[in-house]
Amino acid sequence: MKPLFVKMPPYNNEEGRENVLTLVRIALKEGIDAITAANTHPVTDARLAVGRGGLSGQPLLEDTIRIVREIRLEIGRDVAINACGGIFTHLDAIRAIKAGANTVQLFTGLIYEGPSVAKNINLGLAKYMTQRGIHSIQELAKSEA
Ligand SMILES: Cc1cc2nc3c(=O)[nH]c(=O)nc-3n(C[C@H](O)[C@H](O)[C@H](O)COP(=O)(O)O)c2cc1C
Repeated sequence: MKPLFVKMPPYNNEEGRENVLTLVRIALKEGIDAITAANTHPVTDARLAVGRGGLSGQPLLEDTIRIVREIRLEIGRDVAINACGGIFTHLDAIRAIKAGANTVQLFTGLIYEGPSVAKNINLGLAKYMTQRGIHSIQELAKSEA
């Protein structure tokens, strides 16, 4: 059976955090396999044709790392977290994994770099781990390196 990932919106205040953590708890109770954290950030800007939109890409990374860390603290180790928002490089992926992610997802990186962005992240991760004698993502998550 295909795993079910549920995608959460980002948040940047206590009320948003509580709302998202409530959604996470409900999703877990319903038996989902993984949480994706997070989505585009809502922005309003008169220069946009409809006055609002969703911000993606590098400006999202710090929030992604924070949100992954906070959701991981909430749910323990049993459910996977897929980090999404501002991931462009293997170093971004490593930060997300150390914050508690099991996998990473990206979109905007594809627009800037093309499909090779996935290969480059994988090659970068493999090199980083080989150089440090790290054999798994679980080991990487715990490593001090
Ligand atoms: C043009 C565009 C269309 C998107 N469409 C969707 C969508 O239909 N559903 C969704 O959950 N996220 C959608 N997203 C959000 C991305 O899946 C992703 O969560 C977000 O862009 C943050 O990741 P990134 O910084 O790697 O792009 C879209 C993003 C962009 C830029």
